[in-house]
Amino acid sequence: MKRIGILTSGGDASGMNPTIRAVTRYAIYKGLEVVGFYEGFKGLIENNCVTLNLNSVGGIVDRGGTILYSARSEFFKTREGQLKAIENLKKNCIDGLVVIGGDGSFRGAHDLHLQGVKVVGIPATIDNDIPGTDYSIGFDTALNVIKDLISKIRDTATSHDRIFVIEVMGRSSGIIAVNAGLACGADYILIPEIEVDLIKIAEAIRKHREGKRHILILVAEGAAKAEDVASSIKLLVGHEVRVSVLGHIQRGGSPSALDRILSAQFGEKAIDVLLEGKSDCMVAIQGTEIKIVDFDYVFENRKDVDRNLYNLAHILSL
Ligand code: F6P
Repeated sequence: MKRIGILTSGGDASGMNPTIRAVTRYAIYKGLEVVGFYEGFKGLIENNCVTLNLNSVGGIVDRGGTILYSARSEFFKTREGQLKAIENLKKNCIDGLVVIGGDGSFRGAHDLHLQGVKVVGIPATIDNDIPGTDYSIGFDTALNVIKDLISKIRDTATSHDRIFVIEVMGRSSGIIAVNAGLACGADYILIPEIEVDLIKIAEAIRKHREGKRHILILVAEGAAKAEDVASSIKLLVGHEVRVSVLGHIQRGGSPSALDRILSAQFGEKAIDVLLEGKSDCMVAIQGTEIKIVDFDYVFENRKDVDRNLYNLAHILSL
């Protein structure tokens, strides 16, 4: 192996930049050349790429977003798109490809593997919903961003004796909501994995509101619309409710120390995996160990929310 490609794909996650830096610098340390493709698989199809050297990844360890940019390419899902991508990989003499992203990006990488390209994935999504790894890049930073924002909401909620419905990301997973809820002392957490019972929540609010000057209800975007939850709670409880949708602020900001350290470990492992001739897998962290997990495992499983954390958050909010 002489020359590798690297790209970031899907929803961006803070920590992608230190990952690009780690992959590039470790690959160069191992005697490889590195080519970065812009905008994920779209850049592969359009042959929009740049040679990365030690300097081109300087000064990005603390930057959010991704210097290689990201995109979701529908054309790449077609046979025509994939053939174009393979043609460009050949043109650039790329022997292996590192794909930084989530489940959807890994499916794209898997398609390339089926056509003979050596691929390895690095899990990066704030949703942290990729089976086989305890953490993905971006999750810890997003939690810290949410923690800071909710502290501010709590200040004003207490001043005005208000109920707040706060919507966090997580289109199909409540993992962010549960972890953020526990970290922020939310009173109720609504997630897609557990049926929402607003009547029960309203009863509990009426019962427990005494002595509290703020009630924080955290809603994962995949569970319900914050506005709908707020109007129902207002109707059922008869108290002032305000809404705050945190949105894409959750995906930005300087990567946390944990995400930077994980980026370094994942970057090193990804290059070692390619140098060992392996493919069709992602790097992962299980406990404190950096491992390799086959894409098949990722595609065939679903990562559940930690029900103990979910229950604990509700016990502690009483
Ligand atoms: O990064 C994952 C995620 O944040 C989901 O939780 C969310 O639904 C989605 O991305 C939204 O991304 P976009 O607005 O880029 O489509």
